[in-house]
Amino acid sequence: MFIKLAPSAAHAAQPELAGTTAVVFDVLRATSTIVTALARGYSKVYPAVDVDEALHIAGSRSHVLAGERGGLKITGFPRGNSPLEFVAGPEKDGAELVLTTSNGTGAVRASSTADRVLLGSVLNARAAARAAVAHGQDIYLVCAGSGGGYSLEDALGAGFVLAEMLKSANLAVEMDDRAAAALCLARCYSHDPLAGLMNSAHGKALVRLGREEDLRWCSQLNMFEIAPVYNGEYITA
Ligand code: MLT
Repeated sequence: MFIKLAPSAAHAAQPELAGTTAVVFDVLRATSTIVTALARGYSKVYPAVDVDEALHIAGSRSHVLAGERGGLKITGFPRGNSPLEFVAGPEKDGAELVLTTSNGTGAVRASSTADRVLLGSVLNARAAARAAVAHGQDIYLVCAGSGGGYSLEDALGAGFVLAEMLKSANLAVEMDDRAAAALCLARCYSHDPLAGLMNSAHGKALVRLGREEDLRWCSQLNMFEIAPVYNGEYITA
């Protein structure tokens, strides 16, 4: 099994995604928010690339509309992209969420040419790792990154998932240099994932916006045992 890592969705080459299991990371905060929402009772999350598409998907249906730009809730949307807004669960069981974020939801959509698309975060590292190796395919760790560039927190999340994969007995793994570097990062922060998130540029920006509690939430390793799957239209647990 070969494992490679794309530092941003823009680096995930479409032909190379085919035939792989992709695991998408936007640790601060989209994939952490989606994992939290699904673990707390939402039935589906529709990842929208922009505001217009989110409004179109939500249409007149009773979907919950959520999203951010620049880390802030989109004007007119009832929810932002803080996982803490979803900790208490939906207003009614099985509610459906439409989410659009600056990088994360686009990264999920951009990965859809992979055979299977899973969502990873620190919160569900073990479950995502188990689901990723289950089919024996090569694995593409797709970091959302920021504006097409590298983000420490996404590489850290990918490293935690990779570390969990390597715990599987009898797994013969080869990896590219980017995946190997992410694994080193995870080993560096294994006793303090929060410090890794705090040291990231986006983590610092969120702290400046008063969202330090979001970083604390997103840093909880293996809090949830779900591995969300994107089917090309929506994400389920
Ligand atoms: C993103 O998609 O870039 C993030 O989830 C931004 C955030 O909400 O912090």
